[in-house]
Amino acid sequence: MKNKYPAERKSRSTELKGRLRSKDFEGNQEEVREIFKEIAADYDRVNRIISFGQIERWRHRLVSIMDIPEDGIVLDLGCGTGKLTKLVANRIRGGKVVGVDLTPEMIQIARKNLPGEYENVVEFSLGKGEDLVLRSNSFDVVTSAFTLRNVNDLKNVISEMKRIVKPGGKVYSLELAKPTLPGFREIYRFYFNRLLPLIGGVVQGDSKPYRYLADSLKRFPNQKKLKGLYQSAGLVEVHYQEIFGGIAAIHQGTKREN
Ligand SMILES: C[S@@+](CC[C@H](N)C(=O)[O-])C[C@H]1O[C@@H](n2cnc3c(N)ncnc32)[C@H](O)[C@@H]1O
Repeated sequence: MKNKYPAERKSRSTELKGRLRSKDFEGNQEEVREIFKEIAADYDRVNRIISFGQIERWRHRLVSIMDIPEDGIVLDLGCGTGKLTKLVANRIRGGKVVGVDLTPEMIQIARKNLPGEYENVVEFSLGKGEDLVLRSNSFDVVTSAFTLRNVNDLKNVISEMKRIVKPGGKVYSLELAKPTLPGFREIYRFYFNRLLPLIGGVVQGDSKPYRYLADSLKRFPNQKKLKGLYQSAGLVEVHYQEIFGGIAAIHQGTKREN
C-alpha cells in the first residue's frame, strides 16, 4: 500500500523523540503492570468477547467526537495494544500520535500490530501517566481509553494530561462507568462481579485479571465524580456522554486559553 504520510512527518517524529526519554519504573505499579503483562497476548480477543464486540465501536465513537486538527499532535495515554492509537492516526494528515503505556508487553503488541504505513505517524513509548516525561503545552489532544481506572493516582494523571495539552487543546477519556438505571445496574453488577471472572477463567484460564477488572471499577469514581475531577484539575467546558445506559462514558474537557 502506498505510504500516505508525507516526509515532513519524519521531522516531527525526530522532534518528538527528543521529548520522550526512557522512564524508571519503580513504585507500586508493579502489580498493574504484572496483570497487563499476563493478559497482553489475549487482551484484544478477550475484550471482544466480554464486551460482546462493543469495545471497538466505543473507541470509534470516541474518535468520532474528538476535535483534532488535521496536522495535530495527539497523545494516547495507556495505549495498550494500540487500537485507539491507530484510529486516531487515521484522522490526521501531517500530524503525529504518540502512544504511551506502562507495560512493555502491551507496547510490544502495539508495535507488532501496526501496519508499516503508520510508521511515520505513530510512535510508541513506555511511560506512566502520573509522571509524563513530555513537555508542557505540547499536544493538541490528549486521550485515553480504559486507562484511568488502572492508574495509581487519578488526580495526578488528569493534571498531567492537562499540563501537556496546549491552551485551547482537549483532553478526552473513554472509561467504564456505572449504570444508573435501577434493574439494569444490578444485572450489570452481577455480570461484572460474578460472571466475568468465570468467563475470564474459561476463556483465558485465569480469573485473577477479571477479578482485578471488577475491583478496579468498584474503586473508580462514577461519571459525575470523574467530571468533577476534570474540573478540579482546571479543565473547562467539561462534559460527558454515557454509552449504553452508563456502562461506559466519554469525558472531555478543554484547557483554558491563556
Ligand atoms: C485496559 S488497557 C487499555 C488499553 C487501550 N487503551 C485500549 O483501548 O484497549 C489499560 C492500559 O493502561 C496501561 N496503564 C495502566 N496504568 C498506567 C499508568 N499509570 N500509566 C500509563 N499506562 C498505564 C496498562 O498497561 C494497559 O495497557
